[in-house]
Amino acid sequence: MDTNPCATEEVEEIDLAPTEEILNNLPDNSRGHLIPTLDRVQNIYRFLPEPAVELMMEFFNVARAEIYGVISFYPQLRITEPGKYIIKLCYGTACFVKGAPIIGDKINDKYHIKPGETDDSKLFTLQTASCLGNCGAAPMAIIGEDTHGTIDPEKTFDILSEYKKDDEEMPVTEEVG
Ligand code: FES
Repeated sequence: MDTNPCATEEVEEIDLAPTEEILNNLPDNSRGHLIPTLDRVQNIYRFLPEPAVELMMEFFNVARAEIYGVISFYPQLRITEPGKYIIKLCYGTACFVKGAPIIGDKINDKYHIKPGETDDSKLFTLQTASCLGNCGAAPMAIIGEDTHGTIDPEKTFDILSEYKKDDEEMPVTEEVG
């Protein structure tokens, strides 16, 4: 995960209304709601944009260092926009011993992404995950919305190529006006 809250990249304008709605519907501003709220806000934008984090800081009355400390503690939370497809590679015990780290290394060799990173084409973000709940099919990965079991480097590359192909074949929508 990118843990640098001081990134100087230009901040894209985002619609904060959904974040405000989530906050306004909480029963109170106790800290116990912070982590589930971060999760819900991330589900809207696919990451935690700075302006949304600022709203949460204000609402929960937490310091910047504290909220970013929480974000950096949980690997599933991120402050930069991920690639179109997130590769969640299971590093639970069963998958680990059956070669998940080798698959991770091969993905890095080919796409130049380590866990937490996104490739240059912004198509894939690699993440590691704890047990995905189907150890009998280890090693496992969830790529985008799909679950894949008994993968190896070759099978993983085939799957990723399909996603790449699908993406390239997507019709380009023309801008109106
Ligand atoms: S350890 Fe990977 S699915 Fe359980």
